[in-house]
Amino acid sequence: MRDLLTRIGGYSRCVTEFLRVTDHLYPDRLFFQCCPELHTGGHTPAGTPVYLQLLGSDPHALALNAKKAVSFGATGIDLNFGCPAKTVNSHGGGSALLRTPNRVRDIVLSVRDSVDPAIPVTAKMRLGFNDASRFLETARLIEQAGATELCVHARTRQDGYRPPAHWNEVKLARQALNIPLIVNGEIWSVENFASACADSQCSDIMLGRGALSRPDLACQISAAANHEDYKPMPWSEVLVVLQQLLQTASEFPPKYAGNRTKQWLTYLRQGYPEAGKLFESVKRLRNFDDIAAMVRCPRDSTLAHKELPAL
Ligand SMILES: Cc1cc2nc3c(=O)[nH]c(=O)nc-3n(C[C@H](O)[C@H](O)[C@H](O)COP(=O)(O)O)c2cc1C
Repeated sequence: MRDLLTRIGGYSRCVTEFLRVTDHLYPDRLFFQCCPELHTGGHTPAGTPVYLQLLGSDPHALALNAKKAVSFGATGIDLNFGCPAKTVNSHGGGSALLRTPNRVRDIVLSVRDSVDPAIPVTAKMRLGFNDASRFLETARLIEQAGATELCVHARTRQDGYRPPAHWNEVKLARQALNIPLIVNGEIWSVENFASACADSQCSDIMLGRGALSRPDLACQISAAANHEDYKPMPWSEVLVVLQQLLQTASEFPPKYAGNRTKQWLTYLRQGYPEAGKLFESVKRLRNFDDIAAMVRCPRDSTLAHKELPAL
């Protein structure tokens, strides 16, 4: 997905899904599995840097794994203090750490100390666990511990993924901190981007699900930010990208090979009604060839504004 989306453009950076660290050092292959871009200098084929994200509550173990990731070429380490998953939280990781700001600080300090100062160590947090009462205190500790940047998903753990995102709360940190601050949560459109920036007073954003619902959302936003004209990607072009995703599925057993395509369609249908129809026609199919046949590209599809290099 990172490969496909960064080929389309508009992204200055990606972050991997988290690698969950308990108390030991992971074997080499897990780093490459989490971040295949380590095979290509820590960048996607389109040249976008990828930071490897770690999640855990043990400062020493996180530091050891961060050091190893950097030795394999990770361009940056991102620390996850936002995951709301029960399994993760019950082991003291992700957003559960927001209840103990000093532990968050110790983790950032330990990871920062373990890697070359030239390698960015960034953090991602929610506004809090049950409420946002310790947001500012935690954000300040993250900065004091040496984080290069902080990304804030503008909801508490209690909020889960329910709209709205409280972009205006991030403004508190923007006013108090000096490091770059990135606002995240519920940015699905250029309009949401403008509101998130205005409310939070941040100029940088992170896209999550919105990136999946509109594959060129980052291009749309970057054009709007630069006052450039831009024609959003039509469905016919999205189909081309969907086909490219299917090509990458050959590494999976045929029974599962269509799963990612189906999963992506559930996001795409928020941006494109046609994706909803396509999802309905493939959701019960188990055979990869049958799914591939349905995701056929219309004959007249052209890549009007950007050629996608072949995978
Ligand atoms: C299925 C799923 C998996 C996610 N995994 C991660 C993760 O591994 N690391 C992370 O920092 N955020 C993760 N997130 C959170 C998103 O990065 C993002 O912060 C959140 O969805 C809010 O942004 P959005 O409203 O733009 O999606 C995940 C979200 C979803 C829905």
